[in-house]
Amino acid sequence: METKTRHTIEFDTYPDIAALPAADAALLRQARTATRDAYAPYSRFRVGAAALLENGEVLTGTNQENASYPVGICAERTVLSVASGLHPNVPVLAIAVSYDNELAPSVAPIAPCGICRQTLMEYQARYQRPIRLILAGLSGQVIVVTDSADLMPLSFSANSMK
Ligand code: THU
Repeated sequence: METKTRHTIEFDTYPDIAALPAADAALLRQARTATRDAYAPYSRFRVGAAALLENGEVLTGTNQENASYPVGICAERTVLSVASGLHPNVPVLAIAVSYDNELAPSVAPIAPCGICRQTLMEYQARYQRPIRLILAGLSGQVIVVTDSADLMPLSFSANSMK
């Protein structure tokens, strides 16, 4: 007889940036501004991420594409590498993600891809702190996920190799 396990995920939805807690709104503004720095000549989908570190510093990153498409890297992993490269021992507390899509309006949140979710898990485990996600387009609804691990149930981690 099998045992069924069901995972439910919880996230908060706000109608727009004005409804957010002030710290989240500030980070989202920086992610929106960062979309201008993306290198996305192939998709024309410019993603900006802003990470808040435990020391109060905010760092930004953007997607970096390549003529060999699979070589491209998402904004979320760029900003995590920037943070870890500059401040290897400072936990990342929150990441805001926004995008500017040349081909359609940017009015709804996007959520991190699978590789980025796996990467977020690695940094959460490393820093022993949940990473909060603030997700939105250039306008409209905002989604807040308080613990990135909620997006990655039944995952592979260092523990899986013990
Ligand atoms: N992309 C990100 O940077 N973050 C996401 O959350 C979703 C997708 C990038 C990858 C690629 O450069 C472009 O957006 C289109 O997929």
